[in-house]
This record gives sequence, C-alpha cells and structure tokens, in this order.
Amino acid sequence: MNIAFLASHGGSNMQAIIDAVKNGQLKANPVVVISNNSESKALQRAKSEGIPHYHLSAKTHSNPERLEQAILDVLTDHQTDLVILAGYMKKISKRVLDVFQGKILNIHPALLPKFGGQGMYGSRVHEAVLAAGEKESGVTVHLVDEHYDHGATLAQRKVPVLDGDTADTLAERVLKEEHKIYAETIGKIIAGEIKL
Ligand code: GRF
Repeated sequence: MNIAFLASHGGSNMQAIIDAVKNGQLKANPVVVISNNSESKALQRAKSEGIPHYHLSAKTHSNPERLEQAILDVLTDHQTDLVILAGYMKKISKRVLDVFQGKILNIHPALLPKFGGQGMYGSRVHEAVLAAGEKESGVTVHLVDEHYDHGATLAQRKVPVLDGDTADTLAERVLKEEHKIYAETIGKIIAGEIKL
C-alpha cells in the first residue's frame, strides 16, 4: 500500500503514521509528501525521513487547473494507493477526486458530524466544543468528498472534556488519540477489515 500525504503545517499526524511504519506496526510505504506551504514542518519532516516531497501551491502554479494537475501528477507518478490528509488546509479538487475518491482519508479533531465544516479547524473546533458545553469530544477519520469534513466515517474515538479544559488542553488530549487512530485505521484498511 503506497501512501501519500498532503499536509499544510506541523505534520504530527503524518509523523505518527511514518513512525508506525518504521516500528513495523503498519505495513505501508510512505511514498510522497505534498504541502501547499513551503515553510511547513511537514516538508521538513519528509526531508529528514528521506521521503520525496513537493511544495505545490498558488506560488508554484498560478493557474489553479495547472496546480491541481500537478498535484494529481505527483500522486500518480508515485503510484499512490491511499491519500492521507494530515492537517491539509486546502479543498481537494474535482480533478483529484475523480481519480482518488474513496481512497482519500482525513482526520478531524471532533466527533463529526458535530463541529465540522468550512472554517472548523485548529483551535476553533475545540473552542466550539467547549462553548457548547460538551462532556466529550473525540476524533473522526473519514473519507473525503467534495464537502468539508463530510465523507463516510471510517473510525471514531471519544475523548473526555474535563472541567477547566481550555482549547489547548483539549486539543492536546485529542491529538494524542489522533496519533493512534490514524495509523490503526490505515492498518485496518490494509488488513481488509475496513473496505473502501
Ligand atoms: C489535526 O488536529 C487534525 O485533526 C486536523 O489538523 C491537525 C493537524 O495537525 N485535520 P498535524 O499537522 O498533524 O500536527
């Protein structure tokens, strides 16, 4: 299973998956990392791990269609089987969906369908969970379609909201689960326990 990553910032979820591959927990090949952010830690991580990596954004391709074709070309050139969104802040284009739909996964730091959709990212998600007075939050791994945070749920795990939580403390607790569940879900796909 050749896995490609799309990441915009830190890439800690990507790193957790790469680590699971390195320690033998996950039988997959991380083949390529694409980022829309040339300064992203995700690209630095790819470099340190010796994984081919590309900055592809409006800065490298001013024509949006050429940009989407470039992303698609990199994915296909590296014989990608599964596309892993790991904190990727851009919408996946129809051009890429036409080829990879059903094989693109995203992780979201809440229990979808609650607290998802356009503009719900980063600390905004956790702030909304706290403002709603929820007693639990969690993590969702889902398939990607043309809407934000919308495709079929593949895995979900609850995380408690504790008295006195701030968006930061909740985010930290949720992120720990993200780092486990993403690799586990990919493992289940590879084992055929989750059918795409
Ligand atoms: C995570 O919280 C993930 O759920 C969301 O973006 C964040 C990415 O964090 N989609 P990282 O870049 O993997 O550290």
